[in-house]
Amino acid sequence: MAEYDVIVIGAGPGGYVCAIRCAQLGLKTACVESRETLGGTCLNVGCIPSKALLHASELYKESTTHFADMGLNVATPKIDLAKMLEYKQSTVDGNTKGIEFLFKKNKIDWLKGKGKITRAGEVTVGETAYKTRNIVIATGSEPASLPGVEVDEKVIVTSTGALVPGKLPKKMVVIGAGVIGLELGSVYARLGAEVTVIEFLDHITPGIDSEIAKTFQKMLTKQGLKFVLNTAVQSATVSKGKATVTYKSRKDEAEGSIEADMVLVATGRKPYTEDLGLAHTGVVVSQRGQVEIDNHWQTAVPGIYAIGDVVKGPMLAHKAEDEGMAVAEVIAGQHGHVNYDVIPGVIYTSPEVATVGKTEEQLKEEGRKYKVGKFPFMGNARAKSYFMGEGFVKLLADAETDRILGAHIVGPQAGELIAEVCVAMEFGAAAEDLARTCHAHPTCSEAVREAALACGDGAIHA
Ligand code: FAD
Ligand code: NAI
Repeated sequence: MAEYDVIVIGAGPGGYVCAIRCAQLGLKTACVESRETLGGTCLNVGCIPSKALLHASELYKESTTHFADMGLNVATPKIDLAKMLEYKQSTVDGNTKGIEFLFKKNKIDWLKGKGKITRAGEVTVGETAYKTRNIVIATGSEPASLPGVEVDEKVIVTSTGALVPGKLPKKMVVIGAGVIGLELGSVYARLGAEVTVIEFLDHITPGIDSEIAKTFQKMLTKQGLKFVLNTAVQSATVSKGKATVTYKSRKDEAEGSIEADMVLVATGRKPYTEDLGLAHTGVVVSQRGQVEIDNHWQTAVPGIYAIGDVVKGPMLAHKAEDEGMAVAEVIAGQHGHVNYDVIPGVIYTSPEVATVGKTEEQLKEEGRKYKVGKFPFMGNARAKSYFMGEGFVKLLADAETDRILGAHIVGPQAGELIAEVCVAMEFGAAAEDLARTCHAHPTCSEAVREAALACGDGAIHA
């Protein structure tokens, strides 16, 4: 029987990063993956393909709007959907092959097939059993289902089907105004669809600073997305290739229905542990389906760990990666650590939304005294030069110590801008530290500095 120090089950960003770090730390490592390619949800049907379609559709939209404003008179580009999907797939392939290369480079065995934990210290893949000192469960998540809504991945789709459309919809309904709904809804809106987003709550993007969420919704509405809030979808059915979605208002119980060529169900994801054999092992799974872990990612069974979407916390690739590295360090006898207070979240629409740390609502609830430094992109020369003067940076700092507690950005390159705030927060920086740091001109990052200045004596360009 082959023997390992660590067997990681699942090769998503949690699992493959964990396997690489284990190997780097001198542990004999294998990774089980049942997909034909490595990289998990993120690389195959998540972050990477969705960002490729966001990029292509953003450039298309730009060519039909601001090109002319800049004196670039081109004929409206035609959308070649097959070619666009080919481009998306080549981006995916390049990345999944890259992980395969890294596995070879680090001498990690890829055990192809579905892994099952028979007991602590043993994993089977197909008919073959492998002995191992440690097991890391990194089996990720899958789309949550919605009662009354039958997904066929053609007309009624999850994000997976929405990434491989047979044709472009003219009318689309998105169920859920969360991250997937708004990113993929934006893609189709830019490519010409009339998009209606139906959301259960009375606001979009739950959990995000409410001032940012309100501004963001206004921006998306200007781009053509329609929002039906405070509304519960009752059913979605398909007849002759068209879907009908029925819904009920949560305010006045008024019922309505809407037809669409494509319905995207984006109401969250749930942890995936099917056929993993957990029932026999003593590993505890919560009512929400999450594998329960302690502060060192260990399950109730010594030697079995779990990370990523399958455990508590935000379902984000970089959170899974950080846990993957940390658990490898713990297994190797080091002090793996993840700072859950500094995990950024980004929505890759145009403009982007990026957040880290506490929201204003959270600080109010905690009764903490804080100050707000805000700066609009209208005062940023670089942003204005490419028609992105809407949105703002909002920095929250402790009223007494000036320590940065959170940052919330809606505007150009928000996903890149948030990184410097993350570094600052990791170093326990004060808003004044950011404000006194020289930022290159002209860059959008100056807006972050101005927000930091606004926490003190005032922003210069506001
Ligand atoms: P996964 O990536 O889900 O990987 C788990 C892997 O385990 C899968 O490949 C699965 O096949 C395999 N597996 C499961 N069970 C077994 C078994 N028994 N044996 C063998 N293999 C098994 N996050 C971001 O941070 N940024 C984004 O921009 C972003 N965009 C997204 C867009 C979409 C459309 C979606 C759906 C998700 C997106 N996410 C994004 C979320 C991100 O994809 C997940 O948080 C991340 O992939 C979780 O990583 P993971 O390693 O925990 O699990
Ligand atoms: P989500 O949790 O972000 O949003 C789901 C939305 O659906 C919520 O607003 C919720 O109120 C709403 N909803 C739930 N039930 C509903 C119903 N019956 N009718 C109408 N609305 C309903 O989940 P989403 O968008 O599916 O994404 C899943 C996960 O994938 C997220 O946790 C996210 O972290 C991750 N992801 C991250 C991305 C990023 O980082 N850029 C991109 C895409 C996904």
